[in-house]
Amino acid sequence: MTTPAPLLSVRDLTVEFRRDRSWLRALHGVSFDVFEGETVGVVGESGSGKSVTVQSLMGLLPARSSRLAAGSAVFAGRDILRLPRRELRRIRGKDIAMVFQDPMSSLNPVFTVGYQIAEAIREHNPGLSRETLRERTLAVLSRVELPHPAQAFSTFPFQFSGGMRQRAMIAMAIANAPRLLIADEPTTALDVTIQAQVMQVLQQARGTGSAMLLITHDMGLVAEATDRVIVMYAGRVIETGTTAEVFAAPRHPYTRGLLASRPKLAAAGGRLTPIPGSPPNIASLPGGCAFHPRCALHERHRDPICVDTVPALLPREGAGLVACHLTHLLGSAQREMETT
Ligand SMILES: Nc1ncnc2c1ncn2[C@@H]1O[C@H](COP(=O)(O)OP(=O)(O)OP(=O)(O)O)[C@@H](O)[C@H]1O
Ligand SMILES: [Mg+2]
Repeated sequence: MTTPAPLLSVRDLTVEFRRDRSWLRALHGVSFDVFEGETVGVVGESGSGKSVTVQSLMGLLPARSSRLAAGSAVFAGRDILRLPRRELRRIRGKDIAMVFQDPMSSLNPVFTVGYQIAEAIREHNPGLSRETLRERTLAVLSRVELPHPAQAFSTFPFQFSGGMRQRAMIAMAIANAPRLLIADEPTTALDVTIQAQVMQVLQQARGTGSAMLLITHDMGLVAEATDRVIVMYAGRVIETGTTAEVFAAPRHPYTRGLLASRPKLAAAGGRLTPIPGSPPNIASLPGGCAFHPRCALHERHRDPICVDTVPALLPREGAGLVACHLTHLLGSAQREMETT
């Protein structure tokens, strides 16, 4: 059996930001693949580099205060990190589209929703007649289940509720049937009840053909909506695998901590165990494994390798990868902890 080539292949992505007179590294060699049609979740605490990863793919990092120190991101055969601006613009919004937490970051307040979606379609299909553009826009608006597409067409974004606005932004993102949809916390700003609806709309509207990279803090959503998951910590991928395998048997103490802090478990009577301590600042990263100061395994075993050496991302049990020097001790340590 041959594995198909990935739609997106990110390798060694290394990004730095200027602070005062030096460059601070926010991403340290991030690598992952996204295959045609799949949904890949990206998780990790605040500041772990999730948004910087996708912003660099979309060419959205500030030009003056950031730089690509290394890496490539091959999408459909081309390195999108090194495309001339014009070519990147051609890909952005057509082959790769993005949905943000704040819909107003992609909707313009002074134009109607219909006008903006029609423009997004026209930009990549310059020959279309006004009638065809309008028809296509109405079709896209009904795909995101806006109740009255014709009415929505001539509505201004601020006249919508938060959930409706999010649907309008999704409509804009899927208007040109992108092959890859990147969603950065698409439902975080919404009420819990609306979140599920919007997520469902996003899943249905994008259809089965397109792949999705879904950044979220919601581990329940990852479990429901993703095929594979990438766990990030301090600008590195520290574990990846199929969602089923990673959830059933996380092989990194950090992943285990994230899963244990799921509110669902607490609601069901389990203990809520947030990971003690807070994520490090990129200006003062701990040496070796950046997680070691917070790691229960390290606390127990005190192996100097955790302090001295950055762990490589190596094949984990089953499919997937993990970056932990002590992963082989994880099972037993957990059992020990539960019995004490
Ligand atoms: N434009 C910027 N200028 C300087 N530093 C930045 C910039 N954007 C992000 N950073 C830094 O890069 C690191 C990673 O940030 P990023 O926004 O990717 O985190 P995140 O994982 O998306 O977190 P969150 O869950 O809070 O959205 C952080 O230390 C952040 O302060
Ligand atoms: Mg973010």
